[in-house]
Amino acid sequence: MILSIESSCDDSSIAITEIATKKLIYHKKISQELEHSQYGGVVPELASRLHAIALPAILSECEPWFGELKAIAVTNAPGLGVTLMEGVVMAKALSIALNIPILPINHLKGHIYSLFIEQEALVPLTVLLVSGGHTQLIEVTSYNIMETVATTMDDSYGESFDKVAKMMGLGYPGGPLIEKLALQGDSSKFTFTVPLSQSPLIAFSYSGLKNNVRLSILEAQSEDYPDIAATFQKTATDHLIQKLKKYFKIHPPKRFAIVGGASANLYLRSQVEELLFSYKAPLLLAPLEYCSDNAAMIGRCALEAYDQEAFVAYRDISIQPRCKL
Ligand code: KG4
Ligand code: ZN
Repeated sequence: MILSIESSCDDSSIAITEIATKKLIYHKKISQELEHSQYGGVVPELASRLHAIALPAILSECEPWFGELKAIAVTNAPGLGVTLMEGVVMAKALSIALNIPILPINHLKGHIYSLFIEQEALVPLTVLLVSGGHTQLIEVTSYNIMETVATTMDDSYGESFDKVAKMMGLGYPGGPLIEKLALQGDSSKFTFTVPLSQSPLIAFSYSGLKNNVRLSILEAQSEDYPDIAATFQKTATDHLIQKLKKYFKIHPPKRFAIVGGASANLYLRSQVEELLFSYKAPLLLAPLEYCSDNAAMIGRCALEAYDQEAFVAYRDISIQPRCKL
């Protein structure tokens, strides 16, 4: 079995995965949303301290499996430096105590493999990764061959929801809060410009839209917030759809997936489904509980890394907060 640790942002999570069957034997996650909510975003120092409490608490439940562990997998990139460190230090300690190697796992690959928990990977695959830290279009050929073909020039899709929610004083994370508020709103009451709509670039940008929304909120009453939320969600999503359409003209999708925390957004899902219809390409989604950060997806990646014997000794693992795929 492999024990996997995830602490790249504000979720402390540990999973145990059986190597022979790919079965997820144990999974637990403690989220810090409540603690960060009053700040409207993740406070790294606070997140790190909360991981230092939550990770050992979860780990204590895993002791019955310690004798059967063949490796410790841990997210070491990308993410917040001070929170990645919490998971990596725990992995080092376990590696020494149990005399087993470490498998360093990339968090973005984790999100992609959240699609394949307890099943074989389906590749090749085109993936839209939308989370708090990333907005990327990725061509996945295999576990080792993944190419980012479009990325954001500034903020990410999920982050823009967080920032708009903060401007409205709604709390954190903003994605589910804005999505819920948007259900009561009318997306035709306001007009926001779709980012980069005149640009031939296949890239994403959310800073201009965020500013657009900020100016509207300054002049609006709180009764207008549902309409602003609905218009913002539509515009933010239209931007993704416009760029996907452009990309698909050159690279028609055969199999498409949306992953990451913001892949839970039902409006986004419905718009992508509609776009894929004419290509007859299936849409793959992870179960809702594995869309946001979790160690089960790290455990699924760890199975691939284990097969490839991508082991690292405890003294050789480092964190790479800004690493890409
Ligand atoms: O993947 P994730 O848990 O963490 C990162 O790796 O960043 O994603 C969290 C992000 C947050 O920005 C959150 O607001 C966003 O995903 N999110 C959503 C929704 N649920 C979560 N964004 C839009 N709509 C949602 N329903
Ligand atoms: Zn994530």
